[in-house]
Amino acid sequence: MFKPSWLPLAPALGEVLLLSKASNAKRRQLVVGNWKMNGNLRENADLLVAITNGWQGEHGADVVICPPFPYLNQVREILHNSPIILGAQTVHDQDKGAFTGEVSASMLADLDCKFVIIGHNERRRMQHESDQQVAEKFAAAQKAGLTPILCVGESLQDREQGIYLETISRQLNAVFAHTGKDVFDKAVLAYEPVWAVGTGKTATPEQAEEVHKFMRAQLGALSEKVRILYGGSVKAHNAQQLFALADIDGALLGGASLDANEFLAICKAAE
Ligand code: 13P
Repeated sequence: MFKPSWLPLAPALGEVLLLSKASNAKRRQLVVGNWKMNGNLRENADLLVAITNGWQGEHGADVVICPPFPYLNQVREILHNSPIILGAQTVHDQDKGAFTGEVSASMLADLDCKFVIIGHNERRRMQHESDQQVAEKFAAAQKAGLTPILCVGESLQDREQGIYLETISRQLNAVFAHTGKDVFDKAVLAYEPVWAVGTGKTATPEQAEEVHKFMRAQLGALSEKVRILYGGSVKAHNAQQLFALADIDGALLGGASLDANEFLAICKAAE
């Protein structure tokens, strides 16, 4: 089978240990489930009963679930007495007005959302969200008291051309230019390489750690404070290896968040 030259073989255990968290237990791990456009009333209820039974908050990690908009209130009610936190998948940059089909940050806050995913690659690509719009959404989310989860990540082409750090830097700088860096103490970053999302091709520990370290360095004074998640085909079988890395503080999950056993196994690996 064709294997691009930039995809190294899985590293030996010793190499992974060299990269692993030494004494860095400062940042609390975070696992975010992005349901994308999946679910219905019945399936959501079944999934959430299984997840809430398996995650009662005794563990040392935060867990967030981001359902589609129509189910926010259903999920909010089911999670009411649970330590699992409600989030949303996107938001509009304006607070109210004639924006048919859009949802504002204050509406999400009204529904007890605490987090919102901003700049997911599916929205950047399919809804043509520009770096500038992403920056405005980030600011709108913070203004309403939500914690933005800002997603960045390169395409396969950027990776193959060796310009992936330039892409990530451009995406981050658009937000820094709009809000400054100081506000990132109330934000989360997520590295999601487009080529790893929904493809079953996870970044190797070296690839992920290189980009996470780079992103951390861009944060300046807040570099050790901000949580940086990895997303892209994270499953129960590879989560532990990724979570062991010094600069990875958890995961942003797509497919794995729709399966209670898989999701819980990843949450437990994050503790
Ligand atoms: P997968 O975990 O399905 O690859 O999706 C990742 C993602 O896009 C989460 O936002």
